[in-house]
Amino acid sequence: MVCLGNICRSPTAEVVFRHSVASENLSGIIEVDSAGTGSWHIGESPDHRSMRAAQKRDYDLSSLRARQVKPEDLKRFDYIFAMDRQNLHDLLEMALPDQQEKISLFLHHGSSDYDEVPDPYYSGKDGFELVLDLVEDASASLVRKIAGKHNLV
Ligand code: 4NP
Repeated sequence: MVCLGNICRSPTAEVVFRHSVASENLSGIIEVDSAGTGSWHIGESPDHRSMRAAQKRDYDLSSLRARQVKPEDLKRFDYIFAMDRQNLHDLLEMALPDQQEKISLFLHHGSSDYDEVPDPYYSGKDGFELVLDLVEDASASLVRKIAGKHNLV
């Protein structure tokens, strides 16, 4: 899961998607991580507004620390999900030709009308609720899609 700062959207997506993986009894089979394309927040905890909004839905983001995407991630992970088109562009620039097809917009796997998770950093509280709504929707369908594709069910 990749966004810009790795303190709002992608940590939320990491924890929500991990929860969806556990709901399908696939913990231990599917590994989930997150990172940011930017370096400003490396080592920081998630934004307190993301943590608070997530906590209200029983997701705990508190142990996460921001890190930056590195070329090794593009090699190691089977799927790379970008939160918005800028993240997608930056990832495609970083990826080798044979890694390009691993990368997609996260919300392309969901059922909402959105194809980007809007950056909530300069938004009000509603922006953080919207992130959770969109990420929950995409996570639930994505885990079933991956499980089906790899015969995990
Ligand atoms: P994120 O949100 O990409 O969802 O983690 C942001 C966090 C920090 C900044 C921008 C977006 N920033 O400009 O510092």
